[in-house]
Amino acid sequence: MPQEKSFHMTPDEFRRHGHAVVDWIADYQSRIESFPVLSQVKPGQLRASLPVNPPAEGEPFDTLLKDVDQLILPGVTHWQSPNWFAYFPCNASGPGILGDLLASGLGVQGMLWSTSPACTELETHVMDWLVGMLGLPQKFLSSSTGGGVIQDTASSAVLCALLAARERASGYTTNKKGGNGRLVAYASTQTHSSLEKAAMIAGIGTDNLRLIEVDEKFAMKPDALAHQVDADRKAGLIPCFVCATVGTTSSNAMDPVRAIGEVCQKNDLWLHVDAAMSGTAMVCLEFRHLQDGVDLADSYNFNPHKWMGANFDCSCFWVADRKALIQTLSILPEYLRNQATESGAVIDYRDWHIQLGRRFRSLKLWFVIRHYGIEGLQHNVREHVRLAQEFADWVKSDDRFELAAPVPLNLICFRHKGGDATNQSIMDRLNKSGDLCLTHTKLNGSLTLRLSVGQMNTKARHVERAWQLIREEANRLG
Ligand SMILES: Cc1ncc(COP(=O)(O)O)c(C=O)c1O
Repeated sequence: MPQEKSFHMTPDEFRRHGHAVVDWIADYQSRIESFPVLSQVKPGQLRASLPVNPPAEGEPFDTLLKDVDQLILPGVTHWQSPNWFAYFPCNASGPGILGDLLASGLGVQGMLWSTSPACTELETHVMDWLVGMLGLPQKFLSSSTGGGVIQDTASSAVLCALLAARERASGYTTNKKGGNGRLVAYASTQTHSSLEKAAMIAGIGTDNLRLIEVDEKFAMKPDALAHQVDADRKAGLIPCFVCATVGTTSSNAMDPVRAIGEVCQKNDLWLHVDAAMSGTAMVCLEFRHLQDGVDLADSYNFNPHKWMGANFDCSCFWVADRKALIQTLSILPEYLRNQATESGAVIDYRDWHIQLGRRFRSLKLWFVIRHYGIEGLQHNVREHVRLAQEFADWVKSDDRFELAAPVPLNLICFRHKGGDATNQSIMDRLNKSGDLCLTHTKLNGSLTLRLSVGQMNTKARHVERAWQLIREEANRLG
């Protein structure tokens, strides 16, 4: 009997092509410094080089990889370059990549415990490990009243926190009846824009999101928070949620979590702590003081996909009271009913976030933690912080430059004293050169350069060269 034509990749073909892809990635890692860090393509360049129509017949795999080299690579901005100093790091490590590959290979969808018990239980276990590793309160443990879940991003995490806060404050009626426009949320003027989006989606409304003023270090003023909460109450509104940030995006400012938490306790407000980037630093005891007061938090989030090497996406979110979160997000259609759920003995993570389906994200995090060990993760953080502090000292010792904000960890905000146009020109020329990539912010109305040290392979020589190139640009400007 003639064999039916198969369109699938056989296991042997998969092995061969898979080895080629892993080789490709390893080669990419070893030659990464040869590429311009910021992609130099023009808008539309990649699309113009792609065929208008998809292939009618399948193509050999080798041609796909060739096209990655020729067409895709020029359009890639190399976040994994050690000369990456822009935004924040978004690290992909060896164990992270391999863990993710295994998750793809297993291809499970872990919406319920019963749809793949290992997907749920490994996640719960790793999230419990991290409670101890980051010095988080015991109430976040799955064996206590709380628990942790891996979300895609910090944006989703803060949205879930806000939804749970909304429900708690409205006696769990808003899901059913809709909002009454009286709930109010609070954050500082420096809080990440994801909270504004969350306020829009959660029906709080941006008019009911109060952006509290900050001090000279760009940290929220707890007195101003308390004052605003009082004023809102007096105006007949219902304060319900505060977001404190441990390491703001713009300048890495540290909100005083304990003082903010005390205001929250007094007023029965949900306290969410956003430590998206800087949370990783809490693996080191000497940085834990930056999140002092975290024991007062109702929820906490950090992104191992930023600084810990668990490649995107991987965002860890804990709550102190899992019942509040589950009551907010749970709905149970008949087709998802199963014995394990009914028994009450398992976690079904579908009730802990917005979407239903979920990947096996904990595998890559587990691999990262086991590969590096706490010792290795601490070493990465300490080295980056050391290099950033050294860079800050160089800035201080050059009369033409100034620091624009304190440098608690690995982000340096600095500027040339020549003004906005000068700083813009320094940044644009460096980014265009492809030698490194850095980005900017505005602090006190002035354009400020941000140099974020956090890519896994960034060493002293990369930071030294960055400073040399910045100074050369300043020399050129005279
Ligand atoms: C402090 C802070 N919060 C939230 C976010 C949003 O992160 P995500 O892309 O995971 O939503 C960022 C991103 O840089 C951040 O720095």
